[in-house]
Amino acid sequence: MIVPRIFSGMQPSGELHIGNWLGALRQWVELARADTHETIFCVVDAHAITVDYTPSEMRSRVLETAICYLAAGLDPQRSAIFVQSDVRQHTELAWYLASCTQMGELQRMTQFKDKAEQHKNNVNAALFTYPVLMAADVLVYKATLVPVGDDQVQHLELARDVARRFNQRFGEIFPEPTPRLSKAPRIMGLDGAAKMSKTKGNTIALSDAPDVVWNKLKRAFTDPQRLRRTDPGRPEVCNIFTMHQAITPPETVAQIDRDCRSAAIGCGDCKKIFFDNVMNELGPIQERMRAWSAQPDEVRAILRDGAERCRAIAESTMSEVRQCMGLGAGA
Ligand code: TYM
Repeated sequence: MIVPRIFSGMQPSGELHIGNWLGALRQWVELARADTHETIFCVVDAHAITVDYTPSEMRSRVLETAICYLAAGLDPQRSAIFVQSDVRQHTELAWYLASCTQMGELQRMTQFKDKAEQHKNNVNAALFTYPVLMAADVLVYKATLVPVGDDQVQHLELARDVARRFNQRFGEIFPEPTPRLSKAPRIMGLDGAAKMSKTKGNTIALSDAPDVVWNKLKRAFTDPQRLRRTDPGRPEVCNIFTMHQAITPPETVAQIDRDCRSAAIGCGDCKKIFFDNVMNELGPIQERMRAWSAQPDEVRAILRDGAERCRAIAESTMSEVRQCMGLGAGA
């Protein structure tokens, strides 16, 4: 029997930003509370070694990311929260799945092309096979639903193809996972030039203090054609409006839409409303971040417990996988 299961993960990039939150984390919390699926959330440290990093900083980045999960409202009683490299079955399955993945498929991944461009002096094999490990993350739990932002959809399509190919060759083991997008699957950076991302320095971090958020918002890119306060705006091209749609009550969003188009409000007014609404949400998250940060041993215990629960599920899948692939000495 297949238990309906949700899996998702984030790289331990240290502080998460509101793109991670609106694109993924917030719906993780909603889905976990809905209680329709078993929920598993992972800090994917093995993915993070595909670019240069400082080993002595990795564990604190992992811890900080886990603290963000908890502060956002994930409940460790309800969801398993753990660190990827604590459950070795992920990397084992990734190797086996690599034998069902074509080089050409991996070469088409836009994230690989972007990252290879960004890290020209370190285009390593793990960066190339990154999506195979991601497929393993999901498939080792036979998860069917994967809440992510839209930049991960291509990777999940690959995971579906790999699962299908594996099943055809070795027997029906894996269900095909489906991505689940939030209402704000793609948050642009405050510079308006690229997706919000820590490496681009164009983020609002979940931990930013109110004055930091306001200073960033003041300079944030809006509709490039709206040069003067009296110019009518185009909400559909404005990133602040996209973020309003994810945070602000629908009646207010409709009002902002009208008032922007008629130039009844300026970008500053619109940003002020967004600031108030986003701080209303971030305030309680930041309070919980402080509380969890004061108890790192508790957080580590949660991660250990999560890994233990996940290891049992993952190992049960792996014994099926080894069996149907004919691997190992056998009983
Ligand atoms: P990562 O760590 O880059 O991002 C974590 C999650 O946040 C979403 N996200 C965004 N959503 C909207 N707008 C943005 N600007 C934005 N930036 C990030 C991402 O889509 C993602 O959902 N490969 C994955 C991690 C991963 C994973 C997995 C996810 C590893 N294994 C298995 C799902 C299932 C990644 O690097 O996400």
